[in-house]
Amino acid sequence: MQRDPKLPRANHRPPHFHYFRRLSRLVCLVAAIVLCAVAPGRPAFAAPGAETHPPRTLRDATAGLFTIGVGISDRIPERPADWPLLTAQFRAVTPENCLKPNPVQVTEGDFNFTLADAFVNFAVSNQLPVVGHCLVWAKDDRTPPWFYRDGTNVASRELLLQRMKTHIDTVAGRYRGRIAMWDVVNEALDDGTNFLRPSGWTAACGEEFIGKAFAFAHAADPQAQLIYNDYNNELSGKREKLIRLVRLLREQKAPLHAIGLQGHYEIDRLPLVELETTLAAMRELGVKVVVSELDIDVIPRSRWWADGGKYRDELAKLDPYRDGCPPDILQRQADQYAQLFRLFRKYSDVIARVSFWNLHDGQSWLNGFPWQRVNYPLLFDRKGKPKPAFDAVIKALN
Ligand code: GLA
Repeated sequence: MQRDPKLPRANHRPPHFHYFRRLSRLVCLVAAIVLCAVAPGRPAFAAPGAETHPPRTLRDATAGLFTIGVGISDRIPERPADWPLLTAQFRAVTPENCLKPNPVQVTEGDFNFTLADAFVNFAVSNQLPVVGHCLVWAKDDRTPPWFYRDGTNVASRELLLQRMKTHIDTVAGRYRGRIAMWDVVNEALDDGTNFLRPSGWTAACGEEFIGKAFAFAHAADPQAQLIYNDYNNELSGKREKLIRLVRLLREQKAPLHAIGLQGHYEIDRLPLVELETTLAAMRELGVKVVVSELDIDVIPRSRWWADGGKYRDELAKLDPYRDGCPPDILQRQADQYAQLFRLFRKYSDVIARVSFWNLHDGQSWLNGFPWQRVNYPLLFDRKGKPKPAFDAVIKALN
């Protein structure tokens, strides 16, 4: 089984580990400076192909820092045109949809693994560890409705937990040893004033369903690394809930190995300070972080939800970069990606993995969500060619 080397199961590295790692980096840096000084005329950043040059792939640039991954179409095994970019740049893959509860078990007992089997076989044969996403999605519109029903009644706590166990046993058990990491629970924290988002899960089981999901996942695959995944949990409103959840799971002795910050950002609105506060808080708690679904939308979307959705008609027609993204926007995006990756590098003792959500701009979900527009949120353009943001990220990691 391929494991993410930066994400330990239970033990955390002793404090002196980080000290020695920093010391060894310092020694390497000094050695590099000395080498440059004794080799006059050799530029610090030479052209590709020269004897010394900066890494040209995300894989190389992130080596020793964190695993670089990507959420990718379920259909990747049938898309050979995407394979070179994927395997040259990334070290881990998350299937975009095929392991979610709805596609896997849309009616009770009727499991469908056609796409997931092909995806996992493809990933294993390309030595790409898989992130399974996700065993429980704590949102009613993302949970097959039968889960919550018992005939005409609402399912009891016992029935719901038994269904959860069957689902997790069947899915995580099927890929035991072949799926390295699982997003066990997705999006359970409430955006409003509650601790947890009200759902069929909380109605029947209260807070305990999250810990149960982790226990079932661990029993189904004791080697898998188990993640709690959510959006906006780096922001102050949800950070406190995240911290509370980590403490709660600890009290329950739930096998939580990392928390996932989805990282769906918008240009000019990167929450860098808040994000750093969350990373520091997770470091303090001794819990690892994965940035699980990273992108930077160049057409800010927050107004879609503002003021009861009153801007939606206007926004639905907004498609400003239909004929191409202006260079100044691409440059701003590049600068902001660089800021982000400098922060990730600073917290590389805490961050185990950074995964983008989709391979290139043409495949991004943000072309269709929350409305249809031509978007440019990733590091590679529609032809799979590096954008200014790619160069900026490579430089930021150097
Ligand atoms: C959320 C989910 C993902 C995916 C993205 C958008 O972040 O966790 O599975 O659906 O939204 O595509």
